[in-house]
Amino acid sequence: MARNTLLCAFFLLLALMGVSVGASRKTVGIYELKRGDFSVKVTNWGATIISVILPDSKGKLNDVVLGYDKIGSYVNETTYFGALVGRVANRIADARFSINGTVYKLFPNDGNNTLHGGHRGFNQVIWTVRERVDGEFPYITFYYHSFDGEQGFPGDLDVFVTYKIDYDYVLSVSMRAVPRNKPTPVNLAQHSYWNLGGHDSGTILKHSVQIFASHITPVDKNLIPTGEIEPVAGTPYDFREPMTVASRIDHVPGGYDINYVLDAPTDVQGVRKVAIVEDCESGRVLELWTNQPGVQFYTGNFLKDEKGKGGHYYKQHDGLCLETQNFPDAVNHPQFPREIYSPGEVYKHYMLYKFSVK
Ligand SMILES: *[C@@H]1O[C@H](CO)[C@@H](O)[C@H](O)[C@H]1NC(C)=O
Ligand SMILES: *[C@@H]1O[C@H](CO)[C@@H](O)[C@H](O)[C@H]1NC(C)=O
Ligand SMILES: *[C@@H]1O[C@H](CO)[C@@H](O)[C@H](O)[C@H]1NC(C)=O
Repeated sequence: MARNTLLCAFFLLLALMGVSVGASRKTVGIYELKRGDFSVKVTNWGATIISVILPDSKGKLNDVVLGYDKIGSYVNETTYFGALVGRVANRIADARFSINGTVYKLFPNDGNNTLHGGHRGFNQVIWTVRERVDGEFPYITFYYHSFDGEQGFPGDLDVFVTYKIDYDYVLSVSMRAVPRNKPTPVNLAQHSYWNLGGHDSGTILKHSVQIFASHITPVDKNLIPTGEIEPVAGTPYDFREPMTVASRIDHVPGGYDINYVLDAPTDVQGVRKVAIVEDCESGRVLELWTNQPGVQFYTGNFLKDEKGKGGHYYKQHDGLCLETQNFPDAVNHPQFPREIYSPGEVYKHYMLYKFSVK
């Protein structure tokens, strides 16, 4: 009660000083969600996850996501550490697509292709803090208005992302996007790099990974899907049973960077199991669920002496990403799940990360 009164007084003071809500839009802050010794820090710069701290099997706390010390280091970076990517995550071939005969040209930022929404995607903009609630199950909601023509995408789009600690060591990410006036492709993704041994503990090659998917969408040399859906059976991509990342990575040029077609239909809660990651040394386990049809499995192949938190230099395979999403370049592949949302429809993407120790 006293605290609410204090808050009211604070806002009154701001109002008296002539500080508008609009002015606070440009402020970049760091916000912590905390439940017991589980801590998640996020920033409204790119709706980015900057740290996730939890105990190992002996109770020792470590930060298990890669990132930078200063928010300024996230500006113009191309690792996408912790980022919320959009309007369309992953690659769009030749930076173009068409909707009902209208061709849209995008900003190419990956050779001739568009990657993660273009040069200035949703990870490179300041979001507004819409709602912030502390307490037993703390959460924060970020909001971003993407304008008609931004990076070439059609129509105004209102985007909301909520990070919430749902329970002990459980983090959910709820993404929602509402097209206001034109049909547009939407495919958001959370791009955190996980290292369950701690962000500065070396490679994830010894992590054991299980991905609940019997098929992948193979890609060409520019990492654009060929359109086929191929079985993983008998290939180095088969993670249907738990296997270490190292077990067959030498047979995958560059390392894993591929979309898996998730097997399970969504359950009564509307989610399907995606993957289980385990680190024997720390005993930490990460389980992931989503309502999305696919997951991009990426093993930090492009990391090369990237100066990160605590002055640590991240090297190749020092983190792994499990980015739930629609299939890459779905906007140019009619046989892939539909990616166009029209006014009146709402894009909804849900992720649940559940951490535990063995
Ligand atoms: C980021 O890139 C933009 C556009 O290229 C440039 O104007 C800006 O100065 C860059 N900012 C930093 C901090 O590098
Ligand atoms: C494309 O055009 C058809 C026929 O006019 C219409 O029914 C459909 O909704 C349009 N699709 C989109 C994505 O606007
Ligand atoms: C981009 O497209 C041009 C024209 O089609 C082609 O000559 C060039 O090789 C392409 N670049 C890449 C990196 O694929």
